[in-house]
Amino acid sequence: MKNDFLTLGIETSCDETSAAITSDGRSILSNCIFSQIKWHEKFGGVVPEIASRKHLEAICHVTQKALDDAKIEFSDIDLVAVTCGPGLVGALLVGVSYAKGLSYALKKPLVGVNHIEGHIFANFLENDFAPPFICLVVSGGHTHLVYVKDYGEYELLGQTVDDAAGEAFDKTARALGLGYPGGPLIDKAAKAGNENAISFPIAHIKDRKLSFSFSGLKSSVLNYLNNARQKGIPIVVEDVAASFQKAVVDALVDNTLEAAKTKNCRTIALAGGVAANNKLREQLTKAAGDGYSIHYPEPILCTDNAAMIACSGYYRYSMGFISDMTLNAYANLKLF
Ligand code: KG4
Ligand code: ZN
Repeated sequence: MKNDFLTLGIETSCDETSAAITSDGRSILSNCIFSQIKWHEKFGGVVPEIASRKHLEAICHVTQKALDDAKIEFSDIDLVAVTCGPGLVGALLVGVSYAKGLSYALKKPLVGVNHIEGHIFANFLENDFAPPFICLVVSGGHTHLVYVKDYGEYELLGQTVDDAAGEAFDKTARALGLGYPGGPLIDKAAKAGNENAISFPIAHIKDRKLSFSFSGLKSSVLNYLNNARQKGIPIVVEDVAASFQKAVVDALVDNTLEAAKTKNCRTIALAGGVAANNKLREQLTKAAGDGYSIHYPEPILCTDNAAMIACSGYYRYSMGFISDMTLNAYANLKLF
């Protein structure tokens, strides 16, 4: 492939409309992210139909801004990469349809990208990090422990048996009246709290030691709050946030280090929105000690963005993958 191969990435799987330009897959020339949070927060979560409509309104402007920021024209693009799943199907369809139209009009190749693979590939942006490594993928919809053997080669080692880690953050934040999305708000509140104030349980799943379970933890936070309200005991939101966050982070860190031992792999990476969590980043680095090398994308590249989609699309294309005009949106697209 030519030097300075330019990929346009498009991401519309949930509530961020994003377009980005990368050069040679890894260098970010632009990464525009239009957040829809203000339209969803009053409902306490993402409303799928609103998400689709907002993507439709924003996609052309966001893409033009990505081109302007990168100081390029549509005709300079070499590849169009778009998230085709998993995610909200109506939201995905906006990005996929737009990307197909662009690819057809520009006569440039199109590649459909798996959103989860995009999160993993965020680790390759702006640095020369490479497989093999253990990756903990923690987002609003996914909690996976993956052994990344090579680019595009994965072994799933463990996953959640119920709620995703991000979902647990969002539901707990709602119960605490903190707002949406819950992860960053709990992260912030927890800084002022005592993480040992309340001992919340973490489920250990017999015979499935690399699995996660967060629904019991969510129920125990709800029970704690109901009990305190009934008995008139004051609720210190910061302490509940910190104690809940500790329970989640302990489980994530323990299993991640266990996975690294199982695979005899000394390199660990974090990916997905929850990878932006300060406590998780700190605790993993501390618990791993000197024997491991720990990587995580900068916070803006942990949450949904199109630069990670452009990066993953570039690698898929260089490995010979290409999509055609039958590309569709797949709500439950699998990676493993
Ligand atoms: O990867 P992402 O942007 O979207 C999905 O693919 O789901 O992840 C969003 C999730 C939300 O649940 C959000 O609360 C969580 O990531 N999140 C965080 C933090 N920032 C975002 N969770 C904990 N701490 C954070 N700082
Ligand atoms: Zn995501």
